[in-house]
Amino acid sequence: MIVITVNGTEQKLQVDPSTPLLWVLREQLALTGTKFGCGMAQCGACTVHVNGTAIRSCVTPVSAVSGQKITTIEGLAPSNNELHPLQQAWIEEQVPQCGYCQSGQLMSAAALLAKNPSPSDADIDDAMAGNICRCGMYSRIRKAIKSAAGVQQFDPALVDFVQEVTNG
Ligand code: FES
Ligand code: FES
Repeated sequence: MIVITVNGTEQKLQVDPSTPLLWVLREQLALTGTKFGCGMAQCGACTVHVNGTAIRSCVTPVSAVSGQKITTIEGLAPSNNELHPLQQAWIEEQVPQCGYCQSGQLMSAAALLAKNPSPSDADIDDAMAGNICRCGMYSRIRKAIKSAAGVQQFDPALVDFVQEVTNG
């Protein structure tokens, strides 16, 4: 038996230890927000957190996360009545198109912001490089991450104007 904690709930699993975590989540626990894309750690659609770190669940045997804390897209929001800031920003920036990659994108972005609350463009590109979006929504993804991080870039002219007004 393998025991893992998923979105705060302990799960006791009778499962082949070599089963990828992705299929345990989707088929045994019915958490189908985590998607199968490539099955080869190439696309990021299957990204979940293990103890806060983003991993590819399609190539992670469930035995490798025994005793660990897993968070999936279903557990990203702090409560049923509240969105994660990234989810809110995703809505405001209208990020998803087909939506297939978006669970993975959000989980990678959440892991980034948890470690680096004010990421630069380069930090974002680096952290998100393994998440492919076939709809090409990369610029909106970056904008939404910056918005959620509160590091939205402002027009320099506007910043000058505000400083002028502030300084009298
Ligand atoms: S399905 Fe896991 S990285 Fe593509
Ligand atoms: S929104 Fe379609 S693959 Fe990313």
